[in-house]
Amino acid sequence: MTGAGNPANLPPALRARLLEQKATWLVTGCAGFIGSNLTETLLALGQEVVGLDNFSTGRQANLREVREAVGPAQWARFCFIEGDIRDSAVCAHATHGVDHVLHQAALGSVPRSIIDPATSNAVNVGGFVNMLVAARDAAVASFTYAASSSTYGDHPGLPKVEDRIGRPLSPYAVTKYVNELYADVFARCYGISATGLRYFNVFGRRQDPDGAYAAVIPKWVAAMIRGDDVVINGDGSVSRDFCHIDNAVQANLLAALAPQHARGQVYNVAVGDSTTLLELFDSLRAALLAHGVGYRRAPLHRPPRPGDVQHSLADIGRAERQLGYAPGMRIRDGLALAMPWYLERERQLAGSID
Ligand SMILES: NC(=O)c1ccc[n+]([C@@H]2O[C@H](COP(=O)([O-])OP(=O)(O)OC[C@H]3O[C@@H](n4cnc5c(N)ncnc54)[C@H](O)[C@@H]3O)[C@@H](O)[C@H]2O)c1
Repeated sequence: MTGAGNPANLPPALRARLLEQKATWLVTGCAGFIGSNLTETLLALGQEVVGLDNFSTGRQANLREVREAVGPAQWARFCFIEGDIRDSAVCAHATHGVDHVLHQAALGSVPRSIIDPATSNAVNVGGFVNMLVAARDAAVASFTYAASSSTYGDHPGLPKVEDRIGRPLSPYAVTKYVNELYADVFARCYGISATGLRYFNVFGRRQDPDGAYAAVIPKWVAAMIRGDDVVINGDGSVSRDFCHIDNAVQANLLAALAPQHARGQVYNVAVGDSTTLLELFDSLRAALLAHGVGYRRAPLHRPPRPGDVQHSLADIGRAERQLGYAPGMRIRDGLALAMPWYLERERQLAGSID
C-alpha cells in the first residue's frame, strides 16, 4: 500500500535522537490506526518494539502493511503479543523488560460507548489500570497514553486549554477522563509519571473507513470514492481540529523522551486549526479530484448525534513549550498525504470483490 509512515516527517533533532538511542517500546493497540503508525515509525528508526493487540478493532492487514513498509531487517525487531488488556497477566507479560510504553489500546467512538458503556468502561478503564499497574511493576522509564479531546465535554471555552474542562458528554469521554484521574493518582501513590495526550480528531493512513463507528474523514473519503452518499450529522457547522497522524506520532515520541518536569501532565495534540464539516467536505472533494476522482453529489444532512460537541479547537501551546511539539502537517497537506492510501485500499477492495 502507498502512503507509508515517514520518520522523515519528524523534527530532525528527534529523529537523530532516536536513531542514536536504542530502546524497547511497548505499543498497545499496535494493530489499530495510531498504534500501527507508531510501530512503523519506531521500527524504521531502529527501535525494538513489542506490540499488544486483541484485534477487536485493529486489523492484521495493518501489521502486514507495517511489515512491508519497514522491510525484513526492521520487522525482525518486532514482537507481537495477541492478548487483551483486560487480562492483567497479559499486561504484565507485555510490559516485562520494556523501557517506554505507548498505551493506545482502547475502544474508541462516542456512539459505541453510548450503545455499550460497560464494554467501553471495562477496556478503557479496567484495561488502563491493568497497564498502569504493569508499568509500575516493570519500572518502565516512561508511560504515555492516549487521552482524548472528548474530556473537554460541555466546556464552552475556545480554544481548549488543558486545565479548563467541562462535564463529559458520553461514556467514552468519562473513560478517557478517568484515565487522567488514574494517571494522577498513580503519580501520587506510586511515583509513576504517566503523560496523557489528548488527541483531537487524528486522521491518516490506516484509519478504518468501514464499520458503524468509522471516523468522519475515512468514512467520507470511502463514500466519495465509491460514489455513495456522504451524510453530515447536523447542518455542517460543527468544527474540529483535524490532526494528521504524523503529528500524533511526533507527540508520542516527544512525550516518551521528555524531561521529568514535562511528564505526568496532559497535553493537547492537534494543530490549532478549525475546520467545519462543510469545509472538510470541500477539502476532501478537492483532494480526490487531484487524483482524478470527481464527486458531484451534495451531502445529505441528518440530525446531530447525541454526545458530539459543537466545536473543538485546541490550544497547543503547552505541548509546544514543554515537549517541543511542532505539528508540521496541516490539514491540507495531511489529506494530500493520506489520499493515496485510501485510493489504493478501495482499489484492492474492488479487486478482491471481482
Ligand atoms: N483516532 C482519533 O482521532 C482519536 C481521538 C482521541 C483519542 N483516541 C484514542 O487513541 C487510541 C487509538 O485510537 P485509534 O484511532 O488508533 O483506534 P483503533 O481502533 O484503530 O485502535 C485501537 C486498537 O486497540 C486495540 N484494542 C482495543 N481493545 C483492546 C483490548 N481490550 N486489548 C488489546 N487491544 C485492544 C484494537 O484492536 C485496535 O487495534 C485510543 O485509545 C483512542 O481512544 C483516538
